[in-house]
Amino acid sequence: MVMKLVLLAFPAAVLWSSVVSAQSPDFAYYNLSLIWPASFCISAAKNCVRPIPKIFTISNGLCPTLQNGTALPPYDPVDNNCNYSPAAPGDMAKALKPIQRRLQKTWPSLSNGATNQLFWEVVWANQGMCSDYPQDPLVYFTSALNLAENSKYDPLKVLGVQPSSTTAYAISTLLNNVKKKVGFYPQISCSISSNKLYLREVRFCFKRAKPPTQLQDCPTTMDYVCNSVPTAQQNVIFPPATATISGHVSWDLLASA
Ligand SMILES: *[C@@H]1O[C@H](CO)[C@@H](O)[C@H](O)[C@H]1NC(C)=O
Ligand SMILES: *[C@@H]1O[C@H](CO)[C@@H](O)[C@H](O)[C@H]1NC(C)=O
Repeated sequence: MVMKLVLLAFPAAVLWSSVVSAQSPDFAYYNLSLIWPASFCISAAKNCVRPIPKIFTISNGLCPTLQNGTALPPYDPVDNNCNYSPAAPGDMAKALKPIQRRLQKTWPSLSNGATNQLFWEVVWANQGMCSDYPQDPLVYFTSALNLAENSKYDPLKVLGVQPSSTTAYAISTLLNNVKKKVGFYPQISCSISSNKLYLREVRFCFKRAKPPTQLQDCPTTMDYVCNSVPTAQQNVIFPPATATISGHVSWDLLASA
């Protein structure tokens, strides 16, 4: 009798421990990346959607991130079994129907080589499957939309500056403006085109919660591209949404550079 119990208990214990570890992905906070389409379009040239959206749109969504600022790797059934049986990327078309219009406006694919549908599938595969919503893509995407649509986090309001074809802004000024307005440091990401730095993304770090609502300081305030130039040159162009003409920087922007 005792023997039987032990034999029965063993597989149950193994199953239990694998379920437990699979159900608690190990990450510290979420980061929400808001991208400035005009900067993306300067790097992407002809592969960029037209017309260029005039709002910051979502790029990566809520990215599960470790305390040291490293993004969690994507779900993999063998190497990164972070959640038990997450919804498959192929399920997105059906799952996201109820919020299609909000997604099209605030979370469009900026690359004309990828449909919105494909883009959202990639977001789910890279960020959603290891989030706290593995079975619930609708709630995962809605949580990100709710934050991105909240004017409290609108970079056009909290950066403290407006797009300009004549001025480059010190990244430190932008960071401090956001800190003053929302109380916490974001992370700024840059792109480089013709040897000039562009403001690419503003990323906000939210404490891990369902749903995430509380900001925290991001552990690093600039990505490696912004950091690839000396501090004195860490100034970014924040181009107007009209600043590209068929993939090239417009003449007034060039003339001012
Ligand atoms: C962050 O932490 C993870 C897990 O401990 C580690 O694998 C990774 O190398 C760290 N990254 C940095 C930039 O320190
Ligand atoms: C935010 O997530 C992106 C990937 O989605 C990652 O490259 C970046 O390092 C993260 N930044 C912070 C501050 O967590």
